[in-house]
Formats: sequence, structure tokens, C-alpha cells
Amino acid sequence: MAHLLSVSCSLNISAGSRSYSKPLNQCAISSVSLPISKTPLKRFTFEAKRSRKCRTIYMTAVSMGQEPRVQPGSGSNQTSSEASVPKKVMVIGGDGYCGWATSLHLSKKNYQVAVVDNLVRRHFDHQLGLDSLTPISSIHNRIRRWKSLTGKDIELYVGDICDFEFLSEAFTSFKPDAVVHFGEQRSAPYSMIDRSRAVFTQQNNVIGTLNVLFAIKEFGEDCHLVKLGTMGEYGTPNIDIEEGFITITHNGRTDTLPYPKQASSFYHLSKVHDSHNIAFTCKAWGIRATDLNQGVVYGVRTDETAMHEELCNRLDYDGVFGTALNRFCVQAAVDHPLTIYGKGGQTRGYLDIRDTVQCVELAIANPAQRGEFRVFNQFTEQFSVNELAALVTKAGQKLGLEVKTVSVPNPRVEAEEHYYNAKHTKLVELGLEPHLLSDSLLDSLLNFAVQYKDRVDPKQIMPSVSWRKIGAKPKTVQAKVK
Ligand SMILES: NC(=O)c1ccc[n+]([C@@H]2O[C@H](COP(=O)([O-])OP(=O)(O)OC[C@H]3O[C@@H](n4cnc5c(N)ncnc54)[C@H](O)[C@@H]3O)[C@@H](O)[C@H]2O)c1
Repeated sequence: MAHLLSVSCSLNISAGSRSYSKPLNQCAISSVSLPISKTPLKRFTFEAKRSRKCRTIYMTAVSMGQEPRVQPGSGSNQTSSEASVPKKVMVIGGDGYCGWATSLHLSKKNYQVAVVDNLVRRHFDHQLGLDSLTPISSIHNRIRRWKSLTGKDIELYVGDICDFEFLSEAFTSFKPDAVVHFGEQRSAPYSMIDRSRAVFTQQNNVIGTLNVLFAIKEFGEDCHLVKLGTMGEYGTPNIDIEEGFITITHNGRTDTLPYPKQASSFYHLSKVHDSHNIAFTCKAWGIRATDLNQGVVYGVRTDETAMHEELCNRLDYDGVFGTALNRFCVQAAVDHPLTIYGKGGQTRGYLDIRDTVQCVELAIANPAQRGEFRVFNQFTEQFSVNELAALVTKAGQKLGLEVKTVSVPNPRVEAEEHYYNAKHTKLVELGLEPHLLSDSLLDSLLNFAVQYKDRVDPKQIMPSVSWRKIGAKPKTVQAKVK
């Protein structure tokens, strides 16, 4: 069934309030043949070549011709409240791994969705010579395809949230009831490559979040901020990790205080600072906010991304952006030994990407009160690296793969054997029905990895960024161009 599609793409060129001293390593989105860069990222945005003014691109996918229509309220798991009260949700970072899956899920549930993204994640790949295991379509094609399959519009605002003028325009134009903020530089190794990446990460993440807070205060005081934090903010204390707050009795007095943060990379530290800024603005301005301290996400398919190859999500397996379980599955698929850092006793919270989208929806559907700073620990199970390796080895054997493991020197500074027990009940109380890590999920992830194994670049698998060797000089990671 052929659907004629057209895209109304109004190019809204706004004079940015920030001046950009240098182009982003000569990067423009239209030109992806980037040299591998040794220099830091400057702000990633469209830049008018002559005027040096920031361009904000606002695009809405519009359909033409006959297309399947989905009546409001006919989505799966539709509840009557969703049908009668459509909510407008801005998904910042909606082109990324968690953001794309979430945008589709919310759209399917009849939320009106706007994706805000400056596509910098795609640029990191070009810059470092990396690629997703899965081929991913451009954000424009993704949104067109979604429209053609479901009849649902997703609005798109391409720009940098560190540019407040751009963000203000997006806010006043879309008028969100809730903002889900995924839009950060999210790799700990990336933030530990060199000084410039450390600075970029903290500027991008802290200023971006600060701008979101100011935009809510200025343009939509009632808007609920759902911000993605990370379980890594807590570190690995030798006591149980609570959900955001801990009650302490000290010298005979008792108070409930923010749970201590012991972040272990410049990336994780940016998240800690975000959390403090958000908590402060809840108190000072009455912002309503939910900080989702997310564990490590695994998996690639959700009901929506599985609908068409053009909706396929990214899957990172490299040493900079890849995360533990996803990496192990890809390593097993290409006969690479599973790379266990140090002793492998590092234990963390994990969750299926299908639960990420569920948790975010639950947070939106049950908003925080005005002035409330809520913290939920968003994961479903804990595993050590050794336990994950054992699970992948067993699942691989069932598929006829001979899975080996290797202990590699730990590039990070972290405890390799430690106590870990983190609470995670609040999202379950709101109705989360977890997809626990099962043999069938591992089978399907491994099969997925086998399906795309020809796309794997084995040179990108080993860790290449050392916490101890971070330097001031700009460094290129694994730029093994032959
Ligand atoms: N993936 C995980 O396992 C995991 C675990 C814990 C927490 N998180 C958090 O969840 C969020 C999303 O993670 P992800 O894995 O989807 O990351 P991702 O890198 O795939 O997606 C982030 C998106 O944000 C966009 N972005 C970054 N800076 C921006 C800016 N200044 N303006 C506009 N857009 C910007 C990027 O282009 C990208 O599309 C992050 O905040 C991350 O810290 C992720």
C-alpha cells in the first residue's frame, strides 16, 4: 500500500542569542562526511553560513493522500482518561535510544508528542567513527513513516536546548503539559575522553536542563518536568540506596535529606548537578518535577519500533556508548569474548527498554504536585557484570554460539566487588509491570545481534577511554581509519 507523503517544513530562522565562535568542527547536518575530529564540540546547532546566526528548524510531518487512520482512543491499552484528556508531551532527546522509543509509545497512547533534538548523538558517531548496530533512518523519515502507519503526527523541533531562544520558541509554539527530558550527552566514557568532552558534557547537560527549568517557569508554570537522571548518581555506597531521600538521625536530631551522591564520571556529575538545580527550582518557583534515576537500559525492540524497519531504534555496542548487556549480546554474536572489566563484581540496576517507556508514561500520567521534587529509581532488577556474562553465555550456547569471556583491565575508577541494594518500589506502586530479563528476551536480543552482525566493527568493541589517563589535550578515540 503506497502512501503519498509530503512534509511541510517551515524553516524558521531565528537569530540566536548565543554567538558561536567556531562552527562545530565544520559540521552541518546536511554534510555528514565529517573528518574524525580531535577538537572539542562547540554547540551543536544549525548555523547560518554567512550571518553566523542560529537556525531553528521547525518541521511537522503532514500526510497527503489516503492513509490509515487511527481513531482517538483506539490505541492498545487505551484508558478512558487518555482519550478524553489528550496531553501534550515534549520529548527532548526524542531522536535518541530511549527518547525515540518513548516518543512512539506516547504517540501510540494518544498523547500529542513533539520531539526536540539537535541530532548531536548522530554527530558523535560521525566524529568518533562509530555506528549503531542497527541501521537507523533520519528523524524526518522516522516521523513520516510513523504517520503513514498510524495516522499520528509527531511534531519536530530540531535545535539545541542550550540555545534558550530556540527552546522558548519550541515551548511557546507547542505549549507542553509535560516535558520528558532525555536530551543530554549520556556516555560516561565520552565525558572522560579529554578536557573538551568533559566541558562539553557538563555545559550541554547542566545548561540544557537549566534552560528547560527557566522555560517552564517563563512559559508554562504548570508543566510537569520528567527528567532522566541515572542510578549512577548514587555510586555504590555500603548501605541500601533509597529512592532519592534518606532519613538520618544525627546528634539526636532527625531529618529527611537528599540521598548522598557519589558520582564516578564527569557525565554522572552533570546529572547530580541537574538534580540539585531541579530540586532547588521546585522549592523556589514551585516547579513540579520527577527525577527518574534510571538504571542501565537493554534491548532494542518495543511494540512501536518493531512496526517497520524505518522505525528501528539504535543499538550501541561500542566501547564509548555501548552499555553492558547490549554490548555482551553483540560481542557473543560476532565471536568476540565478553569484555568483563576487572573482577566483574560491579553491580547495577537494569531495565528493559519496554519498561523505560512504561515508566515515563506512568510518571506523566501521575504528575508531581506543584513544588514537589519526586525521585523514582527506575530499574527492575540488579545484576553484576559476571552474572550478565553468565546469562549471555548460557543463552548463546542455546543458539549454538560458543561464548567466551575475557577480563580486561578496568578503564574506570570504580569498586569491582561491593554491596549493592537499591530500592525501586515507587514505579511499581504506580503500576509498572516489569519485563524481567528472561531467556526469551536474551534469545531475541542475541538473534537480533546475529541478524546485524555484518555491521559490527570489531575495532570498536574494546574499551578505549581510561578514567586515569584523561588529558587536557583533545584526543580522538579509536579513529582507526585505514
Ligand atoms: N541508555 C541508558 O542505558 C541510560 C541509563 C540511565 C540513564 N539514561 C539517561 O536517559 C537519557 C537518554 O539516554 P539515551 O541512551 O537515549 O541517550 P541518546 O544519546 O541515545 O539520546 C539523547 C538524545 O538527546 C539529544 N541531545 C543531546 N544534547 C542535546 C541538546 N543540547 N539539545 C537537544 N538535543 C540534545 C541527542 O541528539 C540524542 O538524540 C539520558 O539523559 C541518559 O543520561 C540512559
